[in-house]
Amino acid sequence: MKIAIPRERMPGETRVAASPDMVKKLVGFGFDVVVEKGAGEDAAIPDGDFEAAGASIAKDEASAIGDADVVIKVQRPVMDGRLNEVTMMKSGAVLIAHLAALNHREDVEAYAQAGLTSFAMELMPRISRAQSMDILSSQNNLAGYKAAIDAAAEFGGSFPMMMTAGGTVPAAKVFIMGVGVAGLQAIATAKRLGAVVTATDVRPATKEQVESLGGKFVMVDEGAMKDAETASGYAKEMSDEFKRKQAEVVADHLKKQDVVITTALIPGKPAPKLVTEEMVKSMKPGAVVVDLAAETGGNCELTEPGKVIVKHGIKIVGYVNVPGRLPKDASQLYARNVLNFLTPHVNKEQKTLAFDWEDETVAGTVVTRDGKIVNAQLTGEGQ
Ligand code: NAI
Repeated sequence: MKIAIPRERMPGETRVAASPDMVKKLVGFGFDVVVEKGAGEDAAIPDGDFEAAGASIAKDEASAIGDADVVIKVQRPVMDGRLNEVTMMKSGAVLIAHLAALNHREDVEAYAQAGLTSFAMELMPRISRAQSMDILSSQNNLAGYKAAIDAAAEFGGSFPMMMTAGGTVPAAKVFIMGVGVAGLQAIATAKRLGAVVTATDVRPATKEQVESLGGKFVMVDEGAMKDAETASGYAKEMSDEFKRKQAEVVADHLKKQDVVITTALIPGKPAPKLVTEEMVKSMKPGAVVVDLAAETGGNCELTEPGKVIVKHGIKIVGYVNVPGRLPKDASQLYARNVLNFLTPHVNKEQKTLAFDWEDETVAGTVVTRDGKIVNAQLTGEGQ
């Protein structure tokens, strides 16, 4: 059975879907692993490291994935006028990637038509057993860390308080909006750097989590928060009344902050707009907004995806693919997540992958099979 890891073709993608450690394990299971030449270059993994782990190196993408039984990628395949990574694969092949399946239905239809069995890693169910397979978790954790580092780098002041002979520099005030995986790591990182950290969210469990990291929770409406979480642990869209109250509380709080890091997301919906232009105008000169939701529309009204801009004297940081700004660690963790997903389905005697279709992690992530779209979240039978 041949498993292929191509170089990523999506512009700006620096990660690779495999690590030498993962290759070693897959080769140990009896698979032939092929890595495309230069696939790990941006993630600081030379071809030689993949070879030493037992992979062979393919000279180009067609020879890597053309006859592969399994193709593992970070980003969904590119399908444009010049390149079609889907038709490059053979019918019946397995495709595993962050397919962004709920936002790219037309791509999913193409996978079905091409006869691919495709798995969207981002749809991994949030159950304890699947924590080690959760790419959103591993990648967003790194993004949260990087957001705090980016904020510190862009801010013209210091994060820690400094008592010097020349006078005292106050600690920076950092406000985190959205306390999921990324937000929690942003809090922890900003605290480690010595900032005074506050945070807010709509899910009730987050208050204690913020406090356990040494942050102060900014409460909007405790009553309304009781109903803010879905069964799968994600936030719901809030009522207009809540949004109005939140805007009031946030507007007041923002005036006193040096840095705001926004990470709020609602699955399948555009990012909630939490920081308006008026609020930006009211912030202290030199303050910094880091918007981790830039890719899904931004939590701040003024964010320009992929850019760092200055508006009304405030720096607004809208980097996209933030995990790709830490390609070394992001690739290692991504590869480990995929390996943990595949391992229970390896038939070691026959040296094949035999998916247990009843397994929650398989049923939750499979999007196409036997020429059809089969995922409940796409066929409308899901939640
Ligand atoms: P996410 O990336 O979808 O959203 C980020 C945060 O934004 C969430 O905390 C959400 O409540 C918040 N948010 C949404 N709308 C908001 C608004 N209007 N105002 C303020 N905040 C808003 O969430 P993420 O990071 O994926 O985590 C969601 C939950 O899933 C967490 O409780 C996390 O611990 C849990 N989780 C469980 C896993 C497992 O059991 N396998 C794996 C990873 C996460």
